[in-house]
Amino acid sequence: MILPASPAAIEQAAQALRAGELVALPTETVYGLGADACQDAAVARIFAAKGRPADHPLIVHVASSSQVPDYADQVPDFAQRLMAAFWPGPLTLILPRRQGVAAAAAGGQNSIGLRCPSHPVAQALLRAAGVGLAAPSANQFGRVSPTTAAHVEAEFGKDLLILDGGPCAVGIESTIVDCTRGAPVLLRPGSITRARIEQACGQLLRSPESMTQVAQAAPRASGTLASHYAPRAKLRLMDAGEIEQRLASLGVHASNLGLWCRHRPTDLGAGVYWLAQPSASEAAAQSLFAALRELDARGVQQIWVELPPDTPDWEGVRDRLKRAAA
Ligand code: TXA
Ligand code: MG
Repeated sequence: MILPASPAAIEQAAQALRAGELVALPTETVYGLGADACQDAAVARIFAAKGRPADHPLIVHVASSSQVPDYADQVPDFAQRLMAAFWPGPLTLILPRRQGVAAAAAGGQNSIGLRCPSHPVAQALLRAAGVGLAAPSANQFGRVSPTTAAHVEAEFGKDLLILDGGPCAVGIESTIVDCTRGAPVLLRPGSITRARIEQACGQLLRSPESMTQVAQAAPRASGTLASHYAPRAKLRLMDAGEIEQRLASLGVHASNLGLWCRHRPTDLGAGVYWLAQPSASEAAAQSLFAALRELDARGVQQIWVELPPDTPDWEGVRDRLKRAAA
């Protein structure tokens, strides 16, 4: 059931969360499937609804950084600086988990992912519920993340309470920085560029591969699996020239094909659907998952996507496209 996020609806959702039920909520990145992070039975419902393995840790959402000590111990200085710079906002920090807290949400890891979302509805819900919310993206395991309330309903049906806060402004999942290994490690690129993170925390970002063998014994991260975020159609990445060339050689036989590229190709056959890929990285991130869903809904068998520029601001979008194509 989709409810416009009125104060009454937010109060109803907060009560449902306190009672151990699931609620889908808007955030600035993507919609989340939320449960009280400290009720293990409620958290178990998230894993069951998503079909996600129970050892894949969830992100716990908090209303402000003052709640961090409820969940995490030994927060390094560079992590404090990242919170000060980017919270509330699309940044998740992996921190050492406080003993005995939110074990199921953390998938049994001794670390915990924390994020303070900026979306006003997420903020209002967190404050009304008065608890931290474990919330993965509100999609079935391995599928494209939802950026509208309707996308969530398409994934989970009408029984789920879905707070509608409009389309998500960022459109791709939060940047994840692991702060448990002595230096900041970028686990998942998002809308915040490396340069901004490095500038804010005063340290160079490491990549998971650059860490030593021991430190690399990283927890499972489903957002980092090679074939994540996949539409139903087969997705292929190519440059604009290759798309034109292949279209020309398909001629009139092309059908059931989706295109997400910058310019409308000159001859689109019947059964070829084109959606414009925005030329600015922020706008492209915002529309990426909706475009993949729309083309899927048209029943295309393949989606050809123009590979965006290899510049820092496109890192998050390129990352999601590469995983969707894997
Ligand atoms: O933008 C977002 O982060 C969205 C919205 C709803 O906040 N949430 C989201 O959650 O993308 P999810 O579950 O789809 O992805 C969470 C990612 C996964 O890759 C998970 O493995 C990783 O965070 N993660 C969570 N806790 C972790 C931990 N303790 N150590 C390592 N990775 C962790
Ligand atoms: Mg996800």
